[in-house]
Amino acid sequence: MEKKNIFPQELVDVHGTPLFWTITEAWSQVEGFEAKPDDLLIATYPKSGTTWVSEILDLIYNNGDVEKCKRDAIFNRIPLMELIVPEFLNGVKKLEEMKSPRLVKTHLPVELLPPSLWKNDCKMIYVARNAKDVAVSYYYFHKMAKMFPEPGTWEEFLEEYMTGKVTYGSWYNHVKGWWEKKKDYRILYLFYEDMKEDPKGELLKILKFLEKDFPEEIVNKILYHTSFEIMKDNPTVNYTMVPEDEMNHKISPFMRKGISGDWKNHFTVAQYERFEKYYNQQMEGTTLKFRSEI
Ligand code: A3P
Repeated sequence: MEKKNIFPQELVDVHGTPLFWTITEAWSQVEGFEAKPDDLLIATYPKSGTTWVSEILDLIYNNGDVEKCKRDAIFNRIPLMELIVPEFLNGVKKLEEMKSPRLVKTHLPVELLPPSLWKNDCKMIYVARNAKDVAVSYYYFHKMAKMFPEPGTWEEFLEEYMTGKVTYGSWYNHVKGWWEKKKDYRILYLFYEDMKEDPKGELLKILKFLEKDFPEEIVNKILYHTSFEIMKDNPTVNYTMVPEDEMNHKISPFMRKGISGDWKNHFTVAQYERFEKYYNQQMEGTTLKFRSEI
């Protein structure tokens, strides 16, 4: 199947981060995004559990009302701020039209975040996932989501990913940048692996961060509706509402496996060794620690 013409293959460098050319064309609009003090920002490197935490947050914002959260696809309920395709879609505009309190999604690294989000001291939730599982998930996503460049072979993609030549740039830079910002801003830093291991504990952390207190019954309802098994079959969150020529779930479903440690099924021993060596160099000196399996 042909790729959509609006997305040529090459990424464009925006202050050091490779992004879709359409975003770079409209960069001044993204930079000028006007945050409101009660905005909640969901920030992630792609494939780290964005959709999962987004659905959790929309359910929280709607007091666990599952039907209300089926009012539209997740990407319309919580727009990706920086996603602008001229004459086609515009995350910044969509957000401008939304009533407060707004949920705002971004994959931008801290260096590129519009200044008004910092100035307004918005609360932010960052979800990080271990580098190897993100690599695998991103690889399959490149194959199925037509706006991404062709990933080539797994070996080739892994090389591009390690060296930060993929959309949104270096994973290392992203996770470390947000980790550092946590010291000065209201950021709840979560890990995908913790959410898998103890979904209830992590949901309670989110509720505390938002200063919300829900009865046990609503907490359990949110947990049930945000489990992988339920989300996988929910068209408003599994991205099957996107036209097939933009996302082809026959190649790889958006809700692919939803586990920790799938990298073991993909990395050769040589790839693993090379990856770990480079990882240790990149992560040297940070207090940020990941678990690659649970
Ligand atoms: P896999 O490709 O490893 O299965 P994002 O939303 O940031 O694009 O992340 C997508 C990844 O999160 C996919 O990972 C997807 O399966 C996983 N995911 C989505 N919802 C999930 C859930 N409720 N529980 C666990 N994983 C989930």
